[in-house]
Amino acid sequence: MRTHKCGELNKQHTDQAVQLCGWVHRRRDHGGVIFIDLRDREGLVQVVFDPDAPDTFAIAEHVRSEYVLRIEGVVRGRPEGTHNPNMRTGEIEVLATQIEVLNESETPPFPIESDIEVNEELRLRYRYIDLRRTAMQEKMKVRRDVTRVLRNFLDDNEFFEIETPYLTKATPEGARDYIVPSRTHENAFFALPQSPQLYKQMLMIAGMDRYYQVVRCFRDEDLRADRQPEFTQLDIETSFMTEDEIMKIMEEMIRQLFAKVINVKLDDVFPRMTYQESMSRFGVDRPDLRIPLELVDIADEMKDVDFKVFSGPANDPKGRVVALRLPNGGDLSRKDIEDLTKFVSIYGAKGLAYIKVNDLSAGIEGLQSPIVKFAPADVWAKVLAKTGAQTGDLIFFGADKTSIVNEAMGALRVKLGHDLNLIQGDWKPVWVVDFPMFDWDEKAGRYNAIHHPFTAPSCSVEELVANPGAALSRAYDLVLNGTEVGGGSIRINRSAMQQTVLEILGIGEDEAREKFGFLLDALKYGAPPHGGLAFGLDRLVMLMTGSHSIRDVIAFPKTQSAACPLVSAPAVVSDEQLKELGIRLIKTATKDKV
Ligand code: AMO
Ligand code: AMP
Repeated sequence: MRTHKCGELNKQHTDQAVQLCGWVHRRRDHGGVIFIDLRDREGLVQVVFDPDAPDTFAIAEHVRSEYVLRIEGVVRGRPEGTHNPNMRTGEIEVLATQIEVLNESETPPFPIESDIEVNEELRLRYRYIDLRRTAMQEKMKVRRDVTRVLRNFLDDNEFFEIETPYLTKATPEGARDYIVPSRTHENAFFALPQSPQLYKQMLMIAGMDRYYQVVRCFRDEDLRADRQPEFTQLDIETSFMTEDEIMKIMEEMIRQLFAKVINVKLDDVFPRMTYQESMSRFGVDRPDLRIPLELVDIADEMKDVDFKVFSGPANDPKGRVVALRLPNGGDLSRKDIEDLTKFVSIYGAKGLAYIKVNDLSAGIEGLQSPIVKFAPADVWAKVLAKTGAQTGDLIFFGADKTSIVNEAMGALRVKLGHDLNLIQGDWKPVWVVDFPMFDWDEKAGRYNAIHHPFTAPSCSVEELVANPGAALSRAYDLVLNGTEVGGGSIRINRSAMQQTVLEILGIGEDEAREKFGFLLDALKYGAPPHGGLAFGLDRLVMLMTGSHSIRDVIAFPKTQSAACPLVSAPAVVSDEQLKELGIRLIKTATKDKV
């Protein structure tokens, strides 16, 4: 139907006869001449209709936005002074000789212009129109490039792409499962995989050596900007590689990815940081290293002060007291500080104490704060020295249970970094390593796995049993600009160790056999040392395209409430279907009620 794409025409095509297909982006009548910007995936081109060709002209007069056209015409240079530097095809135009309306269009529910804000629900309902917008087309192109470069790299490095089932059994990755009833097995359900974790381990036991898959994962969890109920992983597993070797090859892959797709040169070696250090300096295990602010522990200084809010947590092994210095923060108004206090309260902080350093050389007299009175001058002098405070700075304080301080002050650090434009550098990758194996769940009274239960500890079975809370794992997360883009570990490859870890997690022998018997068996048949990781593909593309949400880089994402407005899913199913599946609904969500 066509000889060229609209967006690819340029001066070199001058005087050529071309045939184009595309959508009417805009139509303008200019004193007897009609201009149509015709759009396809590659971009826009200006098509001109001259009244000298009355038949063509008459049709052009009646086309409207988003009509689908086929045009025949001749490329010509635009007259001097009418070049459009904002358009790739801005030096030329096409003088139409023929026009055919391939299809009409109703007025679209919102304009196709990328820079016009449109309600997201509406965008998702008419996603096929939203995806016509240039910005969305660009994102889809980057996504295509990303998977292509990753696949090429892995193919070159002898990884096999192997598909694993979607109808399977629960794989614990910390979320709820999506379950699918089986018609052929009464009262039985499949679970959609939260990840292909156990299948990829089976592939290593099967001798596949190096595996990868661009694979959908399903997790029923609370949604956020960087979480979707179904999302895509680049899932990888290898045999006979140490964590160091795995991290090195993955780093190389990510470096090539950024260089080839967005022309960005990442560090030659990604820094590594222990979980402990990350929590202590940044309050989170996914630090944004572009922000030059740090938490400083001051519990030692606050143990004896006359302010319970600080001395309490300072003397509590589960408490933490930190200072966060904001250089030149003395300009913040009372209102700014009130707003920040409200912000940290979202994370459970009961307040946000601060000191303004009006004049460092004036000692305690130079400090302005409601809390200065609670401690003597030498204590504040030590705190100021520890934080490196200068005249004009503002110091924030957080004191509470460690988890609350970390969350609140970690989030405050990121907020200040963004709001006050303190971001330094464009891309700061970091490997976070030496995670603990478990954390203690106060409410449930048991340990949880920090990664998944198949992660190997860096100690022996005996050491693990003796002190589970102190054990470190052989896991690693890749963090980029404060987003966890990937994570993985060396796995347990011996049945006894796997059983021990399940026991520590409170999964007794019977339950372990029922849920993971196949794994415990497989580990007995010559399971090689193996390990791998998975990248969140949507998150990588989100960062590489500068998007605010992974919804913007997924063709058909779900809303915040995990629904698809385009096809109206989830939906009620017929009584007949339910009967066939042997399912009776408790609250009869019948068709009349919907
Ligand atoms: P994990 O659970 O850390 O590990 O997931 C790996 C990566 O997937 C991305 N991710 C998500 N992206 C979008 N929406 C979600 N709901 C979501 N959840 C996770 C993150 C994360 O780093 N089987 C292990 C990997 C392994 O050990 O090899 C796993 O799934 O970027
Ligand atoms: P108060 O004596 O309760 O008015 O608190 C004095 C200052 O300490 C105020 O600026 C509060 O915002 C702050 N504050 C109260 N609780 C905490 C806390 N847990 N961590 C940090 N600052 C706090």
